[in-house]
Amino acid sequence: MNDRVIAIDGPAGSGKSTVARRVAEALGWSYLDTGAMYRAVTVRVLALGLDAGDAASVARVAASCVLGVGERVVIDGEDVTDRLRDDDVNRAVSAVAANPGVRSAMVERQRAFARHQDHGTVVEGRDITTVVFPRAELKVYLTASDEERARRRGDEDPSSVARRDAADRGRTASPLRQDADARVIDTTDRTVEDVVEEVVTWAKTLS
Ligand code: DC
Repeated sequence: MNDRVIAIDGPAGSGKSTVARRVAEALGWSYLDTGAMYRAVTVRVLALGLDAGDAASVARVAASCVLGVGERVVIDGEDVTDRLRDDDVNRAVSAVAANPGVRSAMVERQRAFARHQDHGTVVEGRDITTVVFPRAELKVYLTASDEERARRRGDEDPSSVARRDAADRGRTASPLRQDADARVIDTTDRTVEDVVEEVVTWAKTLS
């Protein structure tokens, strides 16, 4: 059991996943990709033939599913790791993530995950600094220019990334926003190593 958390938020392509994973490695902490959780629920919803906008049914799936997020992402016994970034999932995930019932089920699981680690946890997403772990010992908000974020998203159409970002920022339930206590890093012209080193240095100053 350990309550130590480094919370990292930011839009798609800001470098969250790569930075969070490497910071966790450097500190010997666990890593949690919360976007993968919303994506896994979306894969399950699509597999069940549900409409992503059917709030009650989708929330029921989120509350009752058995979800494992680690090297592989497994939901209700199916390894969906290779499905997470497919186009149909990119299209449907915003509606799933905007569903308050889905969010409360995921937030509960995210807090439980962190509580059960032997060391601390680096958690990344959109509402981690603001809602899930508002008392995290270190909060980081990553940004990057629109051009750079689109470039990093590689084969996903830039208009699809922009649409998801607008949905994440504009929704009522836990929208993406920069927390007042978060330390902000613009990663546009910086290497991953450089950003990781900065976050690790902050983390070590706090411990
Ligand atoms: O980080 P990502 O692109 O894998 O996230 C997928 C979607 O899930 C994206 O639309 C934002 C949403 N999300 C969220 O609403 N809250 C989180 N904590 C993480 C992701």
